[in-house]
Amino acid sequence: MSERIVLGIESSCDETGVGLVRLSDDGRVELLADAVASSVDEHARFGGVVPEIASRAHLTAMGPTMRRALEDSGLALSDVDAIAVTAGPGLAGALMVGVASAKAYATALNVPLFGVNHLGGHVAVDTLEHGPLPERCLALLVSGGHSQLLLVEGVGEKITEVGTTIDDAAGEAYDKVARILDLPYPGGPPIDQQAKLGDPKAIAFPRGLTGPRDARHDFSFSGLKTAVARWVETERREGREIPVPDVCASFQEAVADVLTMKAVRAAQDHDVDTLVISGGVAANSRLSGLARERCAAAGIELRVPRPRLCTDNGAMIAALGAHVLHSGAKPSPLDMPANPGLPV
Ligand code: KG4
Ligand code: ZN
Repeated sequence: MSERIVLGIESSCDETGVGLVRLSDDGRVELLADAVASSVDEHARFGGVVPEIASRAHLTAMGPTMRRALEDSGLALSDVDAIAVTAGPGLAGALMVGVASAKAYATALNVPLFGVNHLGGHVAVDTLEHGPLPERCLALLVSGGHSQLLLVEGVGEKITEVGTTIDDAAGEAYDKVARILDLPYPGGPPIDQQAKLGDPKAIAFPRGLTGPRDARHDFSFSGLKTAVARWVETERREGREIPVPDVCASFQEAVADVLTMKAVRAAQDHDVDTLVISGGVAANSRLSGLARERCAAAGIELRVPRPRLCTDNGAMIAALGAHVLHSGAKPSPLDMPANPGLPV
């Protein structure tokens, strides 16, 4: 069998993504195109993603994004050998736009359709950047909707959750803290910027679930967010000016400390020596910096895809679809539903 072209469609949240990859006989995947349209600006004044707005935006963006991906790759739709689409988890209405589009393209082209897991896509995307993953590795997936530690035993084959957030996702905590500090949405980038000007030791914010009795690799960020809110509230009540850079640096330090500590501990507990960090929060400068330090000290290889591939996109779905296709899995039926609560 010769090389195959896989098209990936992503629409689980506020990004409409269409990606194209080339799958070689030996299972290697190569990025050909990655077109993304985001409705993030339309959600900004609400401080979070509004599902109805996201669904409508996918509907208008899907066709043009598809065209752009094809133009960027220099391919025609008829060159596509298989289609992968995010089946879940995500927003129901948003997912349906991608799933319906994928079914239409797969039917028209008479090619197999693969409904894949969004979380697996965040892991598979690293193979586009750094080549094949080892047989076993650990992935720290941190975004606006997820904070998970995943044990990966074959991309596209077996991924097991070994830890998750018991309340807010890491990105959600960034977005909420940004709101407290009157910084724009999404909160990650402005907090990351402000933090560079502040002292990470200025305020001792709590590190949730890091006690010796917290054996499972779970996270908790709502206590941290509440601690920031209380601290800011007290300062404002006392008429003091808020030292925004110090609050950002101290908050960011707490998040990076917990995420990296738990990821290294989980890698050691599961006897793996490769850690992949993905999702929108992976773009965080302190998280990657501290992860680099701690992984080096623990003898763990760290892989962080470039920021553009860490946030939601269609290439990650195409990459996962290619791995699933290569594994010889059966295609999904054309009556495949969208599954907002799809587990890993
Ligand atoms: O993966 P993503 O684009 O979308 C999903 O949530 O699936 O992640 C978006 C999240 C937002 O919460 C945003 O605030 C956060 O990633 N983020 C960051 C940074 N850039 C984006 N968080 C921390 N530091 C950053 N530099
Ligand atoms: Zn995502």
